[in-house]
Amino acid sequence: MAVVDVNTKLVGLLGNPLGHSFSPAMHNKAFETLGLNYFYLPIEVTAEDLPAVAAGIAKMNFAGYNITIPHKIRIMDCLDAIDPLALAIGAVNTVIVENGRTTGYNTDGEGFVQSLETETGIAVGGKCYLIIGAGGAARAIAMTLAFKGAEKIFLCNRTEQKAHDLAAEINTKVSPCSEVVAREPARIGAAVRQADVLINTTSVGMHPDEDRIPIDGDLIPNGLIVSDIVYNPARTKLLQVAEAKNGRIVPGLGMLVYQGAEAFRKWTGAEPPVDVMFEVVRALKG
Ligand code: ATR
Repeated sequence: MAVVDVNTKLVGLLGNPLGHSFSPAMHNKAFETLGLNYFYLPIEVTAEDLPAVAAGIAKMNFAGYNITIPHKIRIMDCLDAIDPLALAIGAVNTVIVENGRTTGYNTDGEGFVQSLETETGIAVGGKCYLIIGAGGAARAIAMTLAFKGAEKIFLCNRTEQKAHDLAAEINTKVSPCSEVVAREPARIGAAVRQADVLINTTSVGMHPDEDRIPIDGDLIPNGLIVSDIVYNPARTKLLQVAEAKNGRIVPGLGMLVYQGAEAFRKWTGAEPPVDVMFEVVRALKG
């Protein structure tokens, strides 16, 4: 257990409930590894109390904090400034406190991109993506890919209207690169053949429904890069099918670790010990 003193820079996690989060253990181990006098603590807070807690934190010795469910949107009303990417995503997961001033960021999409680039060696600009899903995670990933110069972003979602809404937002707020794909095998097949990367952002395939797959495996071409944000199990059925077809796979744990690594960079200015962070999360996941 780290010794907390008057010079300790605090970092928090605001959400409700917080029982299952890996972030405190992951960040505290990373601070300890680099010998930084920082401490990360979970703070359960209700929606009603969020403005008062956020205002109080800005006046204390906090370097910043993470925000999780259900406050990622509501926190935006409590901050002094919001980074343009977080504004386009419409949600904040990381706040920096500097001299009593708060700035909100979203590192979820950045975490996804760092994981994809590290695992595959590709650069995300100029590529074509097929994203399954149109919820919060899809928004963060799609907006970030569009900001980083994606050539094309196909969106396919069970509730097609949500895919249309997200595509329209990407096309007006960032660049006209997004198109909706109807949930029909022929349409999905055509899009996935055009794509450089297939990304599942839905919960399909998550434990205990490990036999489920978000698109028909027969539609996945040989050698495709396939990413799944589901990290339990570590290798979802989608990733197993892609691997059997000589595809390169990007498991979901990377996004979780790299979104934290990017927040760590913002709070400390130091390069995060990513390997140590992976070890902590893998151990906690069991
Ligand atoms: P998150 O913040 O993790 O993205 P979310 O905003 O609730 O969570 O979004 C969940 C996504 O998974 C949505 O795209 C959802 O599809 P709908 O918009 O139709 O609800 C998708 N999803 C969840 N369960 C699904 C299922 N059984 N089959 C297909 N899509 C599913």
